[in-house]
Amino acid sequence: MAESLLKSGTTKAEQYEALIQQLMHLIGGEKNAIANLANVAAGLKQYFDFFWVGFYLVENTELVLGPFQGPIACNRIAYGRGVCGSAWEQKKSLLVPNVEEFPGHIACSSLSKSEVVIPLRKNDLIIAVLDVDSDTLNDFDEVDVLYLEKLCDWLSTVL
Ligand code: SME
Repeated sequence: MAESLLKSGTTKAEQYEALIQQLMHLIGGEKNAIANLANVAAGLKQYFDFFWVGFYLVENTELVLGPFQGPIACNRIAYGRGVCGSAWEQKKSLLVPNVEEFPGHIACSSLSKSEVVIPLRKNDLIIAVLDVDSDTLNDFDEVDVLYLEKLCDWLSTVL
């Protein structure tokens, strides 16, 4: 596996496309889930300099912290709690422009202002969620959701 990612593209969509292509190539045939989740978290952080990016993995009735990049975070989140637990319960991506307006938001860091959470599916079951946080209000849009969903759909095939 190569050691660096090349940033290219002018629009956010082009940048996501370039990143996803490189991640697919770099991960190649690796089958280890932790290695793949760790490199995707690192790739997103390196490419877009998000405040926090990482995975929570479904374990019975809770989400458990998985590979991530950024400040230390909550270890466990119950089903239906916070943005992550809600995305799991609702089985859909959640875009939160202002975390203070999301009922039950879990503030792992008081610096986090907006957030997007994408579920990862395997055989129609949610197996994990990707959580991306920003320290800026309203920092994500439908382009982020579209490409992070594409990334997660592919990633779930290599877990
Ligand atoms: N804010 C998330 C918790 C995870 S941390 O932000 C990393 C939530 O409400 O589910």
